[in-house]
Amino acid sequence: MNFPVTRMRRYRKNSKIRDIVRETKLNKEDLIYPIFVKEDLKDGEKEAISAMPGEYRFSLNGAVEYAKELEAKGLRSIIVFGLPSEDKKDEIGSPAFAPTGIVQRTVGKLKAETDLVIITDVCLCQYTSHGHCGLIRENDDTDFGYEILNDESLEYLAKTALSHAEAGADIVAPSDMMDGRIHSLREILDENGYYNTMIMSYSVKFASSFYAPFREAACSAPSAGNRKSYQMDPANALEAIREAELDVIEGTDFLMVKPALPYLDIIKTIREEFDLPLVTYNVSGEYSMIMAGIEKGYLTEESIMESLLSIKRAGADLIITNFAPYALDHL
Ligand code: PBG
Ligand code: ZN
Repeated sequence: MNFPVTRMRRYRKNSKIRDIVRETKLNKEDLIYPIFVKEDLKDGEKEAISAMPGEYRFSLNGAVEYAKELEAKGLRSIIVFGLPSEDKKDEIGSPAFAPTGIVQRTVGKLKAETDLVIITDVCLCQYTSHGHCGLIRENDDTDFGYEILNDESLEYLAKTALSHAEAGADIVAPSDMMDGRIHSLREILDENGYYNTMIMSYSVKFASSFYAPFREAACSAPSAGNRKSYQMDPANALEAIREAELDVIEGTDFLMVKPALPYLDIIKTIREEFDLPLVTYNVSGEYSMIMAGIEKGYLTEESIMESLLSIKRAGADLIITNFAPYALDHL
């Protein structure tokens, strides 16, 4: 039936009508806040992240206090990123799996003092002297003279995940993109009795320039080369299905697509192909891009909730986002 019998504008007459026909809703429990905890900061100190207006690196206690504030506003889950002392970084990323590392201590305190679901980012790049997500070896048959070693890295990633589980993490989230990592993590967790610790794989993670502000925030930029030999080519959509499929076979509990906004098509595909809970990472560059637009006066704050909603509409269940504090205040 068409005009004048059918009038689509009837659905939009006023906010009461719009409210009852709205198809997609964003909920507080959909939000996961990424928090940066820096080992070298003293209690009460926090550092502004210049590439991410409004975001900070916290001390351990400062992070826990901020997490409690967000919990009081309705936040349900948090993902912890650690920044170890620069002088502790080494070739194999030792501070990533130290039992008294910054993430491990933060998790312990968050577990004791909040009811949040505690997720940890499992990777080596913040902890290695070279800033890659795995171990490296010279190899001329590569773009920049170094190979990022796959199988050798798995052992250290698994140790890191285990140390997070021992500290009390509910969910470990490997972001390294080595092949076989989900299997390695599931195996070491189960062998040590952590069969209930969940794995949230960064299954479909693209080699994206939208991570630039994060690398400033986490001091984790690779000192040489790039991450294109392990993170996915932004052009590949079929490959995203294979990456997700392998993680499902290896035993992941969640799938993830990262970044979010430039990859909404991938989110939709993964939603349609798989029935696992789907997480998306609304990454630092997506945050900073909108914040810069607002600061310049080109955009209004409404663009924040609109973009989060678009990620849900594409099919995401959960969204890791630096906009979580803002969204909690506007839901
Ligand atoms: C590290 C990691 C990155 C992000 C999350 N974990 C950066 C990278 O892979 O270089 C990006 C998050 C963001 O940009 O907000 N493995
Ligand atoms: Zn990494």
